[in-house]
Amino acid sequence: MDSFEINKIIAAVIVTILIVIGISKVSDYLFNIDQPSVAAYVVDAPEKEGQLSLTGSDSDIDISALLALGTVEHGQTVFKKCKSCHSIKKSGKNNIGPKLWNVMFRPVGAVSDYKYSKALSEYKKDWSWEEMNGFLIKPSKWIKGNKMGFNGLKDEKDRASVMLYLNQNSDQPKNLP
Ligand code: HEC
Repeated sequence: MDSFEINKIIAAVIVTILIVIGISKVSDYLFNIDQPSVAAYVVDAPEKEGQLSLTGSDSDIDISALLALGTVEHGQTVFKKCKSCHSIKKSGKNNIGPKLWNVMFRPVGAVSDYKYSKALSEYKKDWSWEEMNGFLIKPSKWIKGNKMGFNGLKDEKDRASVMLYLNQNSDQPKNLP
């Protein structure tokens, strides 16, 4: 191999290096689209810590925090959804559903002259805040096989309010927890 051949090889190597550098510069220029400094879609994930647990199915529900969202007045408005089937009056009669005066804290299925479904009459629990909350989220899921044809109240304020309203419509409204 003479020096001329070596020069050719060196030249080829240099040219190759220049081409590679050149391509990378050009592609930098072509593809370096400015990144926006602020993301266009911010997903506002709820914070885990200190988060209220209001829809849980067990004892981890923070009932006082839930009830604090509601008012008796709003409960009266929400109860319009229940009125077609339930009377809330003290002297009220059973309708499609049982009368609801005094319902909070009494045993489930306790109106003696109302014909409950088997599911409800065999449930054997009291209407605690937790039970009522769970039931009202989705009645068909909470007590399987019951015959209340109502989809449920998804909204926490609605649920809290209607429970306060039920509690108020009683001989002995309970103090809030
Ligand atoms: C379409 C009619 C209908 C609507 C609307 C309805 N319910 Fe009922 N509800 C029933 C029926 C029927 C039962 C009895 C269920 C059974 O025996 O399985 C019942 C049972 C209940 C019970 C159990 C009562 C007891 O004595 O143990 C509660 C509490 C209750 N309903 C609350 C509500 C509330 C609060 C609303 C409104 C947010 C509502 N219901 C809307 C038909 C209805």
